[in-house]
Amino acid sequence: MAQERGHWSSRFGFILAAAGSAVGLGNIWKFPYITGENGGGWFVLIYLGCIAIVGLPIMMAEVLIGRSSQLSPVGAFRKFSHGGSPWMGIGWLGVLAAFVILSYYSIVAGWAMHYTWLSVSSGFAEMETDAIGALFGSVYENPWINIGWHAAFMAITIAIVAKGVHGGIELASRVLMPVLFIILLVLLIYAATSDGFAQAFKFIFMPDTSKLTGASVLEALGHSFFTLSLGMGAMITYGSYLHKKDDLVSTSITIAILDTGVALVACLVLFPIIFSVGMDPAAGPGLVFVSIPIAFSQMAGGAILAPLFFLLLTFAALTSAISLLEVAVAYFVDEIKIPRVIATVMTGVVIFIFGIPSALSGGTALFGSGFSDMTQSIFGEGDGKNWFDLFDYLASNWMLPLGGLGIAVFVAWRMGDKAREEGFKTSNHLGKMYWGWVFLLRYIVPIGVLAVFLHAIGII
Ligand code: PHE
Repeated sequence: MAQERGHWSSRFGFILAAAGSAVGLGNIWKFPYITGENGGGWFVLIYLGCIAIVGLPIMMAEVLIGRSSQLSPVGAFRKFSHGGSPWMGIGWLGVLAAFVILSYYSIVAGWAMHYTWLSVSSGFAEMETDAIGALFGSVYENPWINIGWHAAFMAITIAIVAKGVHGGIELASRVLMPVLFIILLVLLIYAATSDGFAQAFKFIFMPDTSKLTGASVLEALGHSFFTLSLGMGAMITYGSYLHKKDDLVSTSITIAILDTGVALVACLVLFPIIFSVGMDPAAGPGLVFVSIPIAFSQMAGGAILAPLFFLLLTFAALTSAISLLEVAVAYFVDEIKIPRVIATVMTGVVIFIFGIPSALSGGTALFGSGFSDMTQSIFGEGDGKNWFDLFDYLASNWMLPLGGLGIAVFVAWRMGDKAREEGFKTSNHLGKMYWGWVFLLRYIVPIGVLAVFLHAIGII
């Protein structure tokens, strides 16, 4: 049974694949713009704290559940809670989250592919600043561009996942992750020599309270789930392909450090570029698709750096998308016993269809008065969320924290000694950390997640 499911070829293979899952649009697209919006400094510090005291313990809990059960989430919860039980709901929630997240994630990944192609084919150098700014709006509104790239991105993701754990996911990670690190390094060297570097460094690392609010703290906490791929079983699923002897603690720490490192380097690449051409770091979601192409169009070497940057974004998105699809596929393979290739194609196609409303969220072309108006009126006019925003909001603010809470409570309160036996026996030198870890999972994680929820419903 365990043989049929597949295994990573080594712990290193797992680290690359799991880091591939963690490092994604969350690091290169989202983290820089929320850092910009929250004024840098303090926000970054709080984010680092959230990763260390909430993210890392949950990451260890997920890898532990996967590694010791050698099963994907639903089966793992069944095994450790002795038969059918409400705990299995955490597994199902994860499968649902995979559909929800990948359906809109693929749209943003499609923009990254489109911009890679644009920067290679025509380049931004010839374009006026205003035209580059307007370009993103026209891409966002164009249903065919969005659907076309969404289809292409899903097709590539499906092709990789269909090839299995070893020959598909691990192989892709072994090729894409080193390329990603090299591109990032090239961009960092370039940014470090630009005029804006000192200013950017200060912005990122010098605490400045002026823009910090309670909401910033909760945003940092929520983002720590998303960026480490936690709360929906991705790390349980990847952990289930680990050999039981592979170490849990040092592996999880390595993944968290790689993920955090990439997020910080992404800021160190983007902000100097933004500052040296005098643009605003708080430009929001358009930071990467508007400010960056404008900045590159004005800089020496921009014609080479722009394609590299968007390729980086595409690769980062791809290795994360693979893990999202794998969560759903592993469920159908393990639980429903559908052959992997069929399960992958079927799930991928359903997610593609699920993503179409998101692809149309920015546009008005297909539905006259605008599909976004329609979804807005269905899902509440008040906060004006279109389908795309709604999915992002549901997943990041509700599904992942809820799943993370369930996983923390399950491991710390329900598994008890079993968790200690499974998790810490191979890492005796780290054995003393056990009680600290359990303490965080038992008390700190639930309090933090509760705060996120109370904030989301407007109580704090
Ligand atoms: N961690 C990924 C990112 O930062 C997103 C992701 C979330 C992937 C949940 C898998 C599971 O972009």
